[in-house]
Amino acid sequence: MIKDIQEQIIKLKKEKNAVILAHSYQSHEILEVADETGDSYALSVAAKKYDCDSFIMCGVHFMAETVKMLSPHKRVFLANSQAGCAMADQMDKELIIPIKEREPDRTVVAYINTTADLKTVCDVCVTSSTAVEICKKIKNNKILFIPDCNLGAFVKKQLPEKDIMLLKGGCPIHAAVTREEAEQAKKLHPNAPLLVHPECRPEVCELADYVGSTSGIMNYAKSSDEKEFIIGTEISITQHLQFDCPEKDFYDLSKGLICPNMRITTLTDVYKTLLGLDNGKAFEIKMSDELIKKARVCIDEMIKLGG
Ligand code: 13P
Ligand code: SF4
Repeated sequence: MIKDIQEQIIKLKKEKNAVILAHSYQSHEILEVADETGDSYALSVAAKKYDCDSFIMCGVHFMAETVKMLSPHKRVFLANSQAGCAMADQMDKELIIPIKEREPDRTVVAYINTTADLKTVCDVCVTSSTAVEICKKIKNNKILFIPDCNLGAFVKKQLPEKDIMLLKGGCPIHAAVTREEAEQAKKLHPNAPLLVHPECRPEVCELADYVGSTSGIMNYAKSSDEKEFIIGTEISITQHLQFDCPEKDFYDLSKGLICPNMRITTLTDVYKTLLGLDNGKAFEIKMSDELIKKARVCIDEMIKLGG
């Protein structure tokens, strides 16, 4: 059954000249039919290289918006219209504009997990894999980092020379992991390095052997000589790693690390999106030229500084 749908998807995407982009948190069966897989940064830059008519994003809404901004003349679809991001939905530009007015000399750095509308009032974007490098390259030492205070705290720790102002925001799923859970996992698996996403709280990151993006965590585990690992990000990554490296053992840092938004997209959604590309039944990302022009400035800056 799964194989049949996958075959149909592969046939349809060729017929319709569509490219499937899938974030690493997606299910194995979706990753198998994707043309590109990876973390937020990898997906946003990879999209630029395709000469296709449409992109189908299997991930969350802000990721599809980013692809649309970078390829404004192509049609971009989100495989499941309900796939938002709890962090991106937390802050809007009405909240940030007055803070910018009070802090006019700060460069506003936005984590890519933000809406396009909020990006219009930000200076530079970063992803979890580029945040430290990009903030280091920003000439201004005074930064306002939004919305994730955990990623911001991680950057701040690496760059003590910078004056980084943080707001209270972040990923409710990663931020729910406690220091006690991390200590317990380490006690239970004393030989396993702890690999965590920087969206986790500082006290969890402090206990980690490696802190990095979803791709960073996967690359670390795959290239390491160690035989077991505790994975501190969405539990899909534990499952993918276990599949890719059957000779190693992977343990979830917390059973609560499940992102419902990333889980909502099914293989059937991808199939239905392909069927609906030309009859208005698929969920297309629509953005005005004005919005794209304004929001893209900080994405272009990210690519310039991070590439
Ligand atoms: P990555 O950029 O590491 O893929 O992170 C995206 C994300 O939403 C993690 O929760
Ligand atoms: Fe957003 Fe958190 Fe889900 Fe990542 S894990 S998509 S930050 S809600």
